[in-house]
Amino acid sequence: MKICHVVGARPQFVKYLPLALAQERARRQQAAAICDVLVHTGQHYDDNMSQVFFDELGMKTPDYQLAVGSQSQADQTAEILSRGDAVLKLERPDLVVVYGDTNSTLGAALAAVKRHIPIAHVEAGLRSHNRFMPEEVNRILTDHAATLLFCPSTTAVRQLAQEGMGRALLEGRLIELDALSVGAVTDKNHPLVVNTGDVMFDVLRHVLPLAERHSTVLKDLHPPDDFLLLTVHRAENTDRPEDLQRIIDAVDALSAGRPVIFPVHPRTAAALKRFGLAFGSTVKLIDPVGYFDLLMLLQASTGVLTDSGGLQKEAFWMKTPCVTLRRETEWVETVEAGWNVLFCNAASLPKPTQPAAPVYGDGHAAERMVGLMIDLARQGA
Ligand code: UD1
Repeated sequence: MKICHVVGARPQFVKYLPLALAQERARRQQAAAICDVLVHTGQHYDDNMSQVFFDELGMKTPDYQLAVGSQSQADQTAEILSRGDAVLKLERPDLVVVYGDTNSTLGAALAAVKRHIPIAHVEAGLRSHNRFMPEEVNRILTDHAATLLFCPSTTAVRQLAQEGMGRALLEGRLIELDALSVGAVTDKNHPLVVNTGDVMFDVLRHVLPLAERHSTVLKDLHPPDDFLLLTVHRAENTDRPEDLQRIIDAVDALSAGRPVIFPVHPRTAAALKRFGLAFGSTVKLIDPVGYFDLLMLLQASTGVLTDSGGLQKEAFWMKTPCVTLRRETEWVETVEAGWNVLFCNAASLPKPTQPAAPVYGDGHAAERMVGLMIDLARQGA
């Protein structure tokens, strides 16, 4: 079975890791003949946005580098589609795996579906219900092109059922590995929606001990005991000066004089320069950090202010209160549990009263996904 994984942006490098490990285990334990083709679209290309993740996580060098770089939304997606299509034509994989909601996700999904190659979508069924976000459009279109929809939560399964994906066979239930069978999924007109749990939880369990061993960021930066971690990169927060100013004001109010550490995404660095804006003097700007350093900063912080999706959940799992610098979130369970609050509703960090419930699976999501992919291949889909 040949599986083609397409990644391109920071969070996708991280999400590929547990799939690669689960494939390796399936090869060893079930003698599964899985051939893995890794495609990097080149959406993220700076060393500290890309290579650092491959180095830290010990992942293989991509088999293909599409080198699309930074372009407009349309051009970037189109280049990924067309260069991705050339790879699919050559490799003829049995399945294409796409991750999350970036332009790399959608470009690769379009390339696969046009060649009638089944798609597995990791992180299916999430919605912000805000179609002005490029990510929302990317995830809706990808879900509706996919054959295997791997949902991180019950909410995501229900969402897809509402959108007419009626074969949400295992709705609301985190199924046991033994119970997995794709059954009649071979009809590509009837995708299979499964609550697998969230691969990011798999990753965290695997990577946290490595980060604790290898990261030097706390030694290097010497943050005080009481500090906040900040990340901002979304287009809706950075592309217009009034939006970025609103984020600067919110950070100022929410931090209430506490020191803030801010690894700055290049998009945000460019926007600050372009608009002549600056965060307050308590905000320490640093270059983007790798995954190990990010986890260690998160763990040591009193709270996190972020517009990232991944960080909202990592904060939840690591019991760090979070303010999401957006008007809506796909990760509604973190808000319901009291560990996360939208900045428009927040005067300060949330003060959760209950421990976080395990709403995003048990840390074995990738095994379930790989099990289903093998089933699909064995059925000759
Ligand atoms: C992308 C995803 C977003 C995801 C994020 C993770 C889309 C629409 N957005 O946003 O969902 O949360 O990745 O980080 O796909 N740049 C560099 N060096 C790089 C990469 C980018 O300087 O290595 C700069 C360029 O100026 C570029 C800008 O950052 O134009 C934005 O990059 P892009 O990949 O378009 O979007 P992100 O904001 O990173």
